[in-house]
Amino acid sequence: MRTQVAIIGGGPAGLLLSHLLHLQGIDSVVLESRDRDYVEHRQRAGMLEQGTTDVLRETGVGERLDREGLVHHGLELRFGGAGHRVPLTDLTGRTVTVYAQTEIVKDLVARRLADGGDVRFEAEVVGLDASAPSVTFRSGGETRTLDCDYIAGCDGFHGVSRPAVPDVRTFEREYPFAWLGILADVAPSTEELIYANHDRGFALHSLRSPQVSRLYLQVSPDEDIAKWSDARIWDELATRFATDDGWKLHEGPITGKSITPMRSFVAEPLRHDRLFLAGDAGHIVPPTGAKGLNLAVSDVIVLARALSERYASGSQTLLDGYSDACLRRVWRAEHFSYWMTTLLHVDPAASDFERRLQRSHLDYVASSEAAKTSLAENYAGLPIL
Ligand code: FAD
Ligand code: DHB
Repeated sequence: MRTQVAIIGGGPAGLLLSHLLHLQGIDSVVLESRDRDYVEHRQRAGMLEQGTTDVLRETGVGERLDREGLVHHGLELRFGGAGHRVPLTDLTGRTVTVYAQTEIVKDLVARRLADGGDVRFEAEVVGLDASAPSVTFRSGGETRTLDCDYIAGCDGFHGVSRPAVPDVRTFEREYPFAWLGILADVAPSTEELIYANHDRGFALHSLRSPQVSRLYLQVSPDEDIAKWSDARIWDELATRFATDDGWKLHEGPITGKSITPMRSFVAEPLRHDRLFLAGDAGHIVPPTGAKGLNLAVSDVIVLARALSERYASGSQTLLDGYSDACLRRVWRAEHFSYWMTTLLHVDPAASDFERRLQRSHLDYVASSEAAKTSLAENYAGLPIL
């Protein structure tokens, strides 16, 4: 078997890369270890930057996004029993859109298959050679080798690509908390997202549609999900979102529950020879601020551009600049995600002094146009260069 670009991983990064390369006349094969149903229903991200929606639209996979995506112009910070709006669009001229990662994945899989693309599910990559480029994968009980010109490692944090970069330098931070996320069949209690800080911990009210709410609670990293009955989850959410003016949280049947650890992680460089890392394979952000999926998208835009230049003119300049170009944006998002996580979560080890500083920081962001503008500029997303 042979292709121009072997793509390991059929998450948003791998699928979008394959689509972008196809539009430039470049062949790829996507190898995904899980089955299609699993990949299309794994609950994860929900908030898209305008740069992400623009690319989906401009490359012809934005039709359902335009119909079903919910465009937002602001968000709420809630603490001390009161809400404070950050008017994202007024401050930045940009919007953000709620459209679940599951839906982007469905749209991209459907489009690749309709375009005759080669996307293989239940095909697990077990080895790769970044110098005489090839990947070895298991599928249907057989082990096969795919020869290629380049390998895109889009296989997420636990994949095989990053360990294949020798002398990789990693930068990491673990947080003393995790997120318990739920999906519930109930109309959202808010039009805009609410990021809440409460003495008992952080809570986030997001949504998936006018009928489906998505909510998150800060819990401890070793939390046992079995201890969280539906009633306990709703009680805790109501406590953390409570305001002095009697705002009400709508409750409804919970259809999904999971716990996600929080970490910051960057690998440098994002390249070894003919292997390029993109998305969660190269970096992780804590979810506060919704940057993970958006970073995966910006990485593959840069990679698709570089590979197009290479095939069109033979020039390697953009490929050589890939890692540095992505890392500049990655580190900005790393800082913002760390900052927003620290601003909003309760660190169980924080001293009273640190808690007072955090409260002062929240008051400042809520009351200063300059501070809100900085939050808004990062949240809505900096331009993809
Ligand atoms: P992945 O989605 O992890 O895809 C990698 C794929 O590679 C997987 O399908 C995996 O099965 C496959 N794979 C792994 N190993 C192999 C192998 N050996 N062979 C073949 N295939 C392999 N981001 C945002 O931008 N906004 C948000 O609102 C947001 N909210 C989030 C909320 C939660 C609860 C979580 C967990 C994450 C959130 N994120 C958010 C982050 C976002 O989901 C990820 O950054 C995104 O999935 C990264 O895409 P990816 O394609 O790089 O990796
Ligand atoms: C969602 C997740 C986030 O991490 C975030 O900051 C905003 C929204 C979500 O899943 O909807």
